[in-house]
Amino acid sequence: TLLHPFLESLPKCEHHLHIEGSLEPSLLFELAAKNNIVLPQDDEAFESQDALQARYKRFTSLDDFLHYYYIGMSVLITPEDFAQLAMEYFQKAAKTGVYHAEIFFDPQAHLERGVSYSTLMEGFTTARYRAQHELGMTTLLVSCFLRHLPPTNSISVFNQPDVLKSYRAGQVVGIGLDSSEKDFPPHLFKDLYAMATTLKLRRTAHAGEEGPVEYIRDALESLGIDRIDHGLHLADDEELMALVAKRGTLLTLCPLSNVVLKCVETLSDVPIRKFLDAGVKFSINSDDPAYFGGNYILDNYCAVQETFDLSIDEWKTICRSGIEGSWCTTSRKAEMI
Ligand code: HPA
Ligand code: ZN
Repeated sequence: TLLHPFLESLPKCEHHLHIEGSLEPSLLFELAAKNNIVLPQDDEAFESQDALQARYKRFTSLDDFLHYYYIGMSVLITPEDFAQLAMEYFQKAAKTGVYHAEIFFDPQAHLERGVSYSTLMEGFTTARYRAQHELGMTTLLVSCFLRHLPPTNSISVFNQPDVLKSYRAGQVVGIGLDSSEKDFPPHLFKDLYAMATTLKLRRTAHAGEEGPVEYIRDALESLGIDRIDHGLHLADDEELMALVAKRGTLLTLCPLSNVVLKCVETLSDVPIRKFLDAGVKFSINSDDPAYFGGNYILDNYCAVQETFDLSIDEWKTICRSGIEGSWCTTSRKAEMI
C-alpha cells in the first residue's frame, strides 16, 4: 500500500501471538528430522512443506487449524528448539517495527507430551535476552490455558511449584485462555482466574472469536480480565461495546486470522470501522502467522489499510492504544510513544 513505509515505521506492540503458531513449515520439518519425530503418515499434508502449506490454505474452522497446530508443536523438544522458535519470531517482528511483544505459550500442550516447564522457560529466557540485547526489543510471556482440557488440569498446572516460581520471578506476567472456544464458556475457568488475581497476574482470555458475544460478557464478568483476545463479536452488542469502550479494555484483534479460520467471510467484515467510531481500543496482531500464509503483524496492518483506508491519525491512535494497553513498565511505554 501507499502507506506501507508509514505503517512499517509506526512503533508497534504485538499482544496476540502464539509462539507455537510462529513455527514455519521449514523449521517444523527441520526439527522433526533432528528430534526423530514421526509426523502423521496417514495425512498427505505431511508429505512435504508444499503439501503442508497447501493444507494451511484450506482451514475450515478454528478446530481444523488447531489439529495442525498441536501436531506442529510436537517437534519442539529441547530448550534450544524453543529458543530458536522464539528468536526467529523476534527477528521477524523487529524487522517490521515491533518494539514490544507479549507472546503466548501453551504450557499444558507441552507438559502433556512430556516436555518440562523448565525446558520452555530456559529456551524462552535465552531468546528474550537476545531480543533485548541484539534487537532492542522488549518481550513478555503470557501463559495460556487450554479450554478444551478440564479446568482442574489448568489449576494443577498453575499451581506446579516451577510454574508459581516463574510468576513470582516475573518471567511470566499473565495468563490467557485459548484453544477451542465453542462449548467452553469462560466461567468454567473462574477459579483459575481468581488465583491469578490473587497473585496479581495480568489476565486476558480469547473471547468472541468463534464464540458469541455472550462469551465476551461472561469473560469480563467471571474472569476479571484486563484485556480481550479477538473480541471480534463485540460489535454484535452495542451496549456491551459501549461499556468496553468506557472501561478502556483493549481488544487484541487478529484480522487475517479471522479470515483464514473462516470466522468472517472477508476482511471487510471485521468491525474495525465500528470499533474506531465507538471508541473501542484495539491492537492489530498476527495470532499464528506461520499457519496463516506467513502473514506477520505488518501484513495485518497493510491488509487493514487496503480494506479500510484509515487516516494517519487513526493509525496513530491504534498504535498509541497498543502502547498504553501493554503490560510493560511505564518507563518503557514512555520510550515508545
Ligand atoms: N484461537 C484459539 N486458540 C488458539 C489460537 C486461536 O486463534 N491460536 C492458538 N491457539
Ligand atoms: Zn489466538
